[in-house]
Amino acid sequence: MTTVLEQGHKTPGLGIVGLVGLVLATLLSACGADTPTAETAADHEVTPPTADASQEVASESPGDALEYPEWETVAPGENAAYNQRANLVQRGHLVYGKYCLGCHGEYGNGEGPAAVRLITQPRDFTSGIYKFRSTDSGSLPLEGDLHRTITRGLARVSMPGFPLMPEGEKLAVVEYIKTFYPRWEDEKDQRRVIPVPRPPDDMGADNRRARGRIIYLQMGCGKCHGTDGRGTGATQTEYVDAWGNQQKPFDFTRGSLKGGNTPEDIYRTFHTGLRSIMPSFDGDTLAAVTSGAFEDMKTNLEPQEANRLAAVAADFPIDGNTIFSEMNDSERSALAERNSWDLVAYIMSLRQPTSTAAAVLGSDS
Ligand code: HEC
Ligand code: HEC
Repeated sequence: MTTVLEQGHKTPGLGIVGLVGLVLATLLSACGADTPTAETAADHEVTPPTADASQEVASESPGDALEYPEWETVAPGENAAYNQRANLVQRGHLVYGKYCLGCHGEYGNGEGPAAVRLITQPRDFTSGIYKFRSTDSGSLPLEGDLHRTITRGLARVSMPGFPLMPEGEKLAVVEYIKTFYPRWEDEKDQRRVIPVPRPPDDMGADNRRARGRIIYLQMGCGKCHGTDGRGTGATQTEYVDAWGNQQKPFDFTRGSLKGGNTPEDIYRTFHTGLRSIMPSFDGDTLAAVTSGAFEDMKTNLEPQEANRLAAVAADFPIDGNTIFSEMNDSERSALAERNSWDLVAYIMSLRQPTSTAAAVLGSDS
């Protein structure tokens, strides 16, 4: 991680020799300042010049922890909370300059020097629009969402993961990127969190997967992701996201998911949506799957599949009236939750083990 990034936006040429030179030069000039007046020697002993020099080198040498300059605002203790946050932002600025600026740009607008060479453009943090949230699609993300994205990175695009970054630096850079969106503090209290419950133990059960297949077809996931989950029969295969990047609906049979691969991640992704192209499916929407509608769509299925799915169709309410008039709120939300996990179970069952070579060459069928 470190090496690749360092190449991107470190001034080249300052190798070991340069560093040693820098130390020597700093030491020499510091000593030089010491010699002329003997009277001041005692003063200088209090703050040895070598301390300064080593600090400078520490922040220059790659791989070492960052050294942060002191940050002073008002008198110490006068406004503790403010001082603390200002300090965090200050540190975040340094972390950002080292690891993120090359892509996301000095002003956080996604126009870093490396951006021109990337297909999916780095996120512009100034608009406050985020793809990977555990909040509804109109809300800002939680700090924890940014932390997760930074730790894990995003599959299939250039956003690297920083699993080894010290926790303090991660928290600091999260605070820093928030400052690119000036209304963050005003809007953060309006965030609506979409809770992700614990997944059930029987995610691999056949009846879950079969019900998940029915849900997938009835909710129209196949219109974009294909009837088989790999794009076959999709009505549209190219989408443009909220930032103008081309995105294909995900092929569920291969590759890692940007939003994460665990059942909880997949649950969260379709509940929150991915801003403008991948819609969010939440609340009652996920309860609205009926055995009546299955009867209607059965004729479009292969007879073998129709028979297999018919065995679980009776698990769903017969029609919309049953769901929306006869069920109470908690029954309905329990049904929506069962449907959600069924859908996750089905999506996960589509994943095929492919070797890297086959995936790259496209030679598997
Ligand atoms: C090599 C380029 C690159 C570097 C370096 C990089 N990013 Fe990214 N980042 C991206 C790209 C590209 C995306 C957009 C992915 C997408 O839209 O699917 C992204 C997306 C993100 C997101 C997700 C935004 C959302 O919509 O949810 C966050 C948060 C983020 N980056 C933070 C960081 C931080 C913090 C750093 C430094 C520690 C960093 N990135 C370094 C390229 C980079
Ligand atoms: C209007 C088209 C459309 C529909 C309908 C749709 N999707 Fe998507 N979906 C997309 C697109 C486009 C992406 C890729 C977004 C990206 O990479 O930024 C996507 C991505 C996803 C991902 C995330 C993959 C990742 O990388 O993390 C999941 C999970 C997903 N869809 C599930 C579903 C489910 C479940 C349904 C039905 C309930 C559904 N989608 C319906 C267009 C759609």
